[in-house]
Amino acid sequence: MKIDGRPWRPIWLEADGGRVGIIDQTLLPHRFETRSLATLDGAAHAIAAMQVRGAPLIGATAAYGVALAMAEDAGDGVLDRAVAVLAATRPTAVNLRWALDRMDRHLRPLAPGERREAAYAEAARLVEADVAANAAIGRHGLELVRAAARRRGPGWPVRILTHCNAGWLATCDWGTALAPIYMAHDAGIPLHVWVDETRPRNQGAALTAWELLAHGVPHTVVADNAGGHLMQRGLVDLCIVGADRVTAAGDVANKIGTYLKALAARDSGVPFHVAVPSSTIDWTIEDGIAGIPIEERSADEVRHIQGMAEDGRVLSVRLVPDGSPAANPAFDVTPARLVDGLITERGRCAATAAGLRGLFPDHS
Ligand code: MRU
Repeated sequence: MKIDGRPWRPIWLEADGGRVGIIDQTLLPHRFETRSLATLDGAAHAIAAMQVRGAPLIGATAAYGVALAMAEDAGDGVLDRAVAVLAATRPTAVNLRWALDRMDRHLRPLAPGERREAAYAEAARLVEADVAANAAIGRHGLELVRAAARRRGPGWPVRILTHCNAGWLATCDWGTALAPIYMAHDAGIPLHVWVDETRPRNQGAALTAWELLAHGVPHTVVADNAGGHLMQRGLVDLCIVGADRVTAAGDVANKIGTYLKALAARDSGVPFHVAVPSSTIDWTIEDGIAGIPIEERSADEVRHIQGMAEDGRVLSVRLVPDGSPAANPAFDVTPARLVDGLITERGRCAATAAGLRGLFPDHS
């Protein structure tokens, strides 16, 4: 996607052919800065510290992390360590394990002398496949937006609510939940996006709003608790969110607060859709509540809030009384029964085992 007319992706191979560039997402929307990753540990740090985040981008960074490790030493021991170190960075997005399994399967049978080049090439293929998958999600999701536009009538904007950031910053390009929004906007369909701020890290207020503003998509940031009210008043036509893991039966893990939006959507009769590439589907589990590990992040993210001071410094300020404990589960599980449909690169389906098997018979 473009920023000030220049195309950007959130991850790229630098001109020296060895290091990997990323946008440091911890500083947005206040400062746009890039970082250069040169080592396995640098890649692992970027994921754990959320300089890169969003399920598909976590997977892509891990794939390049393996390549950075292979550039230093391509022996079996380093391959084992790279996979173990990267796998331990964040637990919920299954794209991480998916990318590491793919890299390991590709590299393991090769002689160490062949692994460096093969690792960079495989990471690049994974990135391009993610871009293509998200573009396809955009095209399939666009049909939903077109249908909502027909229901609204000519000239009336389709009002879409989204949670967290499932835009191009969270993937290798386009985004998942935002891909249909970008395509609909580019096709001239009038839209208005309700952007949940997404406490505690504010990925909606900081990242989704920044993306939509850069692309010229009309939007309004709302406090997380406003969504139910907006839906009850008939101000939302469609919810579209992304996911970190979807089970084989259609349960969806996504950013904390997604479940409450799905409950409110069902109560108000607002369609609730989840956009995911197949790399986010965990075919090994069915019950998301029992089976999906939920990341517990530092309580300091709840106790503090980050913003920019008048003098341009990015600051963190305390919100909670000193001494009050806080808890920070980073994701929740929306049961499949509350999901009206999944939007994947192969098309749309019901959030059920049969729906997923129909689109992905190769996984049944
Ligand atoms: O903690 P984050 O910022 O990595 O969480 C991101 C989300 O929850 C996204 O909605 C999800 O990864 C889908 S990204 C296309």
